[in-house]
Amino acid sequence: VVRGFSSSAVRNVVIKNVTIIGGGQMGAGIAQVAASTGHSVTLVDTSDDILKKSIKTIEGSLKRVVKKKFADKPEAGEEFIKKVVQNVSTSTDVESAVQSSDLVVEAIVENLKIKQDLFSRLDKLAPPHTIFASNTSSLSISDIASSTSRQDRFGGLHFFNPVPMMKLVEVIGTPATSQETLDSLLNFSKVLRKTPVSCKDTFGFVVNRLLVPCIMEAIRLYERGVYACYYNSDASKEDIDIAMKLGAGHPMGPLELADYIGLDIINSVIEGETKDPNNPLFNSSDLLNKLVAEGKLGRKTGEGFFKY
Ligand code: CAA
Ligand code: NAD
Repeated sequence: VVRGFSSSAVRNVVIKNVTIIGGGQMGAGIAQVAASTGHSVTLVDTSDDILKKSIKTIEGSLKRVVKKKFADKPEAGEEFIKKVVQNVSTSTDVESAVQSSDLVVEAIVENLKIKQDLFSRLDKLAPPHTIFASNTSSLSISDIASSTSRQDRFGGLHFFNPVPMMKLVEVIGTPATSQETLDSLLNFSKVLRKTPVSCKDTFGFVVNRLLVPCIMEAIRLYERGVYACYYNSDASKEDIDIAMKLGAGHPMGPLELADYIGLDIINSVIEGETKDPNNPLFNSSDLLNKLVAEGKLGRKTGEGFFKY
């Protein structure tokens, strides 16, 4: 049974101060939506240069948002951007960043040991009421939470890329997550004007359990080159993407989407499941491994399956 909102009156921890750890593509996006909805946000990363880039990303995205939202009132749009950016402070000092935090959302590298080390440190630094959440794509929330002594106040908040545009948040509860924590995370997602769905703590939750096999099959299809449109001509990368966009109504083709997500992230997701010989859906790909080894991680590095 997947738990959703409790049937009794919703008991919420009021979330005002949010600490986001990791200012990459996901962390910056989560910081933006939290700040846009009136939260006081502290964004943490390992260097000031990275954090400067995160703020630039947020400003760039906000410009796109206000172009639509304040089409007739450009000055109000500028004011909105100023206000949102003022709601975000940045820090490289995780200790002070969690001291008055109601919620910590972690969006760092997809590596269990590194996430566990971080949360084990935070557990000693954050106030008792602080809820911890991970934005992991596919790691077990229980495994990450096991590094802390607050497993009842630990859950998954899985956002989608690009966070300002994607409406879904998967809210993941483990058997140890309290109903109060789950209610708070579901409610927080709604306050961000997202649509939350409750998920069990199972591999890939819902979206990645279905989406990543599709992306991997597209990569293998391209690698095999056998699905030719014409005799003796391989299915090109573009053919595969056009086919899924026009034939299945996807906004991006699977290879373009892989580049958008990050090929390192896709590889980390499948690594969790490749060891299971009964689950070929998540088998690795030589081509994907080669691109990652060459540092061609997709859009964020300027090249992946395509050049940017
Ligand atoms: N910030 C703000 N606005 C943005 C934006 C951003 N980062 N990215 C796009 N937009 C806005 C644009 O400004 C544009 O606005 P207008 O309609 O006013 O012009 C609108 O979105 C459409 O953008 P584009 O015209 O540039 O391109 P598009 O129509 O292809 O839309 C997209 C862009 C929303 C990203 C769309 O291509 C899309 O939905 N792609 C699929 C994304 C997806 O599947 N994400 C999930 C990945 S899986 C994951 O995240 C989980 C995991 O664990 C790996
Ligand atoms: P990213 O590489 O863009 O950003 C990660 C950031 O974390 C970097 O800026 C890095 O400097 C920082 N970082 C690493 N270790 C840190 C530490 N110990 N303390 C502070 N900062 C640290 O990665 P991303 O795409 O934003 O992914 C982040 C997380 O979100 C991963 O767990 C990923 O699986 C998950 N996720 C990614 C996507 C996606 O489409 N890219 C979607 C949903 C979830």
